[in-house]
Amino acid sequence: MGKRIRQAKLYILATALLLLIEQPVLWDLYRPAATANAPLPTGPFVALTFDDGPKAETTSRLLDGLSQRGVRCTFFVLGVQLEGNEDLLRRMANEGHQIGLHTAHHKALAGLGPADFSAEVDELRFALTALLGPEDYMLRPPYGMISRAVEDRAAAPIVLWSVDPEDWSDHDAARIAAHIIDNAKDGDIILLHDIYDASVDAALEAVDALMAKGYTFVTVEELFALRGVEPENGKVYRKLPPA
Ligand code: NI
Repeated sequence: MGKRIRQAKLYILATALLLLIEQPVLWDLYRPAATANAPLPTGPFVALTFDDGPKAETTSRLLDGLSQRGVRCTFFVLGVQLEGNEDLLRRMANEGHQIGLHTAHHKALAGLGPADFSAEVDELRFALTALLGPEDYMLRPPYGMISRAVEDRAAAPIVLWSVDPEDWSDHDAARIAAHIIDNAKDGDIILLHDIYDASVDAALEAVDALMAKGYTFVTVEELFALRGVEPENGKVYRKLPPA
């Protein structure tokens, strides 16, 4: 084979590879985590979500561990936890994690009147917008308590969960990790709290085990996109299984 033909073939191959890399819409979702050599993930996909933070020590340690693994997840934060943790929130956003609303003071939203509801949800949305810019901040109501009024007033998609290891109950990292590993299925949304050391340990252990089984961890937003589902304000989502 002549040298020029070899060069031409190499050029065509390189161009084809570049096109392949740039082509799939999904590729865009993986920019921070992926390298040009990584294969496109095909699933199964799961979304880790963390409520009640951020908390300086535990959330930082979690972010370190997720960053080492190239994993992104979703944080439903509390308004009362914002002060003093501004850099932590910016870090979350910069590292590609999704941030959502978990109310200002961890109040059960069902039963609140319009003004109290607004003070819990809209004011947190304003605070996050001031800190991080305008985003479609999704809502996770505390205790998963919803009502018709909560759905009507949410002005955001409502994200509950399909896997709950009840990490707050015993702070037993091995048990919590095992619950996640044994129960996670394609499209599940997993509930944890980034305010406990055991939950951070369990999350990272579960990430390692499930990634070894071929799972890809995505944000809730990415899970919607992967399933071709347009999130609707006021609608309740617990998981996004494959069609
Ligand atoms: Ni909570």
